[in-house]
This record gives sequence, C-alpha cells and structure tokens, in this order.
Amino acid sequence: MLSDQILRQRYRIIEQIGGGGFGDTYLAIDLDFPGERKCVVKHLSPKNFAPEAVAIAKRLFKTEAECLSRLGEHDRIPRLYSYFEEEGQFYLVEEFIQGSNLASEFQSGKKWSEAATVDFLQELLEILTFVHQANTIHRDIKPANIMRRERDGRLFLIDFGAVKEILTVDEKGQTNSTNLTVGIGSIDYMAPEQAKGKPGKYSDIYAVGMLGIQALTGLTSRDLPQDSDKFRQILDELQINISSQLESVLVKMISLQPQNRFADAAKALEALIPADIIEPPIKTSHPPKKFLIALLGAIAISGAGIYALQVSKQPNYAQLETYLQNKQWQQADAKSDRILLKIAGEDSALDAESIANFPCNSLSKIDRLWTNNSKGRFGFTPQKQAYLETGNQIGRFTESTYQAFGDRVGWRTFNSWSLYGDLKFTDIAPVGHLPSPGMVAADNDLRWREREMLLSRFDECGL
Ligand SMILES: Nc1ncnc2c1ncn2[C@@H]1O[C@H](COP(=O)(O)OP(=O)(O)O)[C@@H](O)[C@H]1O
Ligand SMILES: [Mg+2]
Repeated sequence: MLSDQILRQRYRIIEQIGGGGFGDTYLAIDLDFPGERKCVVKHLSPKNFAPEAVAIAKRLFKTEAECLSRLGEHDRIPRLYSYFEEEGQFYLVEEFIQGSNLASEFQSGKKWSEAATVDFLQELLEILTFVHQANTIHRDIKPANIMRRERDGRLFLIDFGAVKEILTVDEKGQTNSTNLTVGIGSIDYMAPEQAKGKPGKYSDIYAVGMLGIQALTGLTSRDLPQDSDKFRQILDELQINISSQLESVLVKMISLQPQNRFADAAKALEALIPADIIEPPIKTSHPPKKFLIALLGAIAISGAGIYALQVSKQPNYAQLETYLQNKQWQQADAKSDRILLKIAGEDSALDAESIANFPCNSLSKIDRLWTNNSKGRFGFTPQKQAYLETGNQIGRFTESTYQAFGDRVGWRTFNSWSLYGDLKFTDIAPVGHLPSPGMVAADNDLRWREREMLLSRFDECGL
C-alpha cells in the first residue's frame, strides 16, 4: 500500500515483508546513504479501530522504538535508525538484516540434532541475556521473530513490538515501574502466566524452551506439549534420544509454575552450558569506562553499561564439529571465529593481548577438529606449515614473506589481500585456506595481522 512512497524524502518503500495486528513492515531504501542502503520501515497501522486499541498500539509502537534505541546497541539486535510521525502516521526505521526468519527452519516434520538445538538455544539465550539485563521482557519469542543472517548464519532477535519494560531507570537514577497488562504474544509459545497478563523474564524462557522442543521434535507449534510429562512421552514416541542434561533443561524451561523455571536467560544459559566444560574468558576485567558504568549501574542503562554486566560467553565445540563433519565449511569458519572470540571474551576482534594469552588447549582443539575433518587440508597446523615453507619466521612479521604465505593459502589473489566474500568454502580450496582470519564486522576486511600472531601463539603452545 505504501509501495514506492518516499517518507521524509529519504526512505523509499520497496515492498511489504510483514504485517500484524498493530502495523505493517516494509523493506525500504535509505536514499541519503551512498549505495542505497537497505532498511526496514515499520508503519503503525492498527487493524482494530477501537480508541482503546489504537491507544495501546501507539504506546507499544513507542515502546518498540525506545527499546530498539537502547537494545540495538547489541550486535544481534537491529539498530534503530529513526522514529518519526509524518502526516499523522507513525513510522520506525531500523537496520535491515539480510537473511530470513526462522519460520522455514521450524517447518513441521524437520528434526534438528541435539548439537544444532543446543547451539541454537545458546545463541538465542545469549541475545536474550542482554535483553533481560536491560530489564526488558521480549514477550513474543517465536521463529518469525528470529532472523538468521545469510552472510554468516548468525541469529538476530527482532520485533520488539510486544516488549515489556519491567523497570526503567531515569536520569536521576530513580526507578519507575511501568505496568502494561496487555496480552500479546503468540499463543502457542506463551507461558500460562503471560496469557493471564502477568509476564516476567521467565515467560521468555518458557517460549525458548518450546522452541527447543519444536526444533528437536519437528512438531507444529500447535502440537507442542503442554507439560513435561507430555514432552517426555513425545520424545519416547518419536524415538528421539537426547542427553539427560538437555532434557532436564528443557523440562525446567517449560514448567507451568514460573518459580520452577530459570529466572532469566543468564540462568538458563548457565544450566545449558555448564561452567565446568568451558574455559574462563581471558579478560576478566573490563575497560575502566565500562567498568565504572557497571558499578554505577543505575545512572542510565546505556549500551556500554549493559555490556559490562553481560555474562561471559561460552564456546560450543559440538556445533563446529557437526558443521565440519557435514562439510559446511562456511558455517564452520564463522563458528570457529565465534569460538575464538568467546574464549577471548571479546565481542568483535582479538587483540594482541588476548592472542598472547590464548589458552593452548582451545587452540589445539579447534585445530584438531579442522584437520581431522578435512584430511589435514584445513586448520592451524597446515597454516603454520605453509607459513614456515614460504620463508616466514615464527614471531617475526615480514611483509614480503607474509604475502607469499597469503598467496600460498589463497588469501591473496592478483597481488591483493582478499575480502571475506572472496574466500572459497569448498573441499578444493588451497591447503591452509580455512579457517579464515575472521571477519571484521564493519568492512568485511579480514584480520591478517592477527592471524599471524595467532599462528605464533599456536607455535608457542608447542602445537
Ligand atoms: N530488521 C529486519 N531485517 C530484515 N527483515 C526483517 C526485519 N524486521 C522484520 N523483518 C521481517 O519482517 C517480518 C515482520 O516483521 P516484525 O518486526 O516481526 O513485525 P510484525 O510481526 O509485527 O509484523 C519478520 O518476520 C521478518 O521476516
Ligand atoms: Mg513479528
């Protein structure tokens, strides 16, 4: 209906990509940006014209914008670009995530492996930890509100239109409770207390548990079990074998009594990936500024403040192994990058300090997974060998020989270093081509220098 319309002389509507009770969602182009950057425009257009309904819709729309403005700081939640009123209509513009929502992955009949399910739950709970630590409840967690980015397979949580803020902190550090009692969310994933208008963070956990069960069983959302007995019965009937640990985490997540569930995403994450199978992050302290914000905590829940309060992220090797066994090289590459970052306790890139302290057993483990599943073609071991064979010395960066190494492993073509999009994710990529030196989110450039340091660390570890 808005097709080809230009809002604010800036956002050209391309096509509708979603529509719900409160509004419609469009793909648009930001004309102010060179290269015609894509963005998403949400238009508030309540389908119910009763004055109360319109008032509620407006309030929720504003809350969505406010939440995105704060939570969009997180790298797995779309950024808010703009929120405005034009000709009496309300609009919200946010970052476009190139990919698709998970509705198709949750098709009925398709069963996920335990490793894939745990990996999915872990990734989702990590994003949700950030949301919960900002004292917000998402309230509408379901496949259509989770996106998978095409470029690297990473998950994004979207649609904060149903979000509920439990506690807000104003500039003076005072807290205000907001009291919304509107029943929203998708009924199939909705916790019983939320259906009665009393949601808490634990209500999101219930929905996450239901998604986990749906992934494992391939059931339609309507056929999901209503209690843990039914869940166990379904596992039996469908002959699905999962570890008792995952079973008990899911059982706890879908408890009918909220007090029997995990209180929030951080607690659920801890139970899903127990601390004894992970290495502690190298960096236990945060940069002074973030740390101070964490201590003062209450002044304003800014992005940096929330970040400092986040739990340490935890690596999951099981999914890496599955990707490698299936020869899903690109996914395995992205996963390895994530594991390296998680172990280092970094968000976007490894720095010299974290590389110098990188745990040897983790490097060895990642290397072994790659070499074992590629007949020795990929991994740090073949990279180190190619590095030495092209005249490089461990711990000494020399540009000319490093370029020769880049040529050898296929990271350089026609005398220039590749971008992420130039990499080859196939069985016949040059020896040592993968895992790649990680992607720098902003410009698709790869971290060549850091990979050289990592290979030195690999050598230092006696590997
Ligand atoms: N930021 C985004 N980037 C890419 N696609 C999006 C984005 N936000 C929404 N979508 C797509 O549009 C659909 C509807 O958007 P959503 O925000 O969930 O609105 P609603 O459910 O209220 O219609 C989503 O399921 C998703 O496929
Ligand atoms: Mg939605």
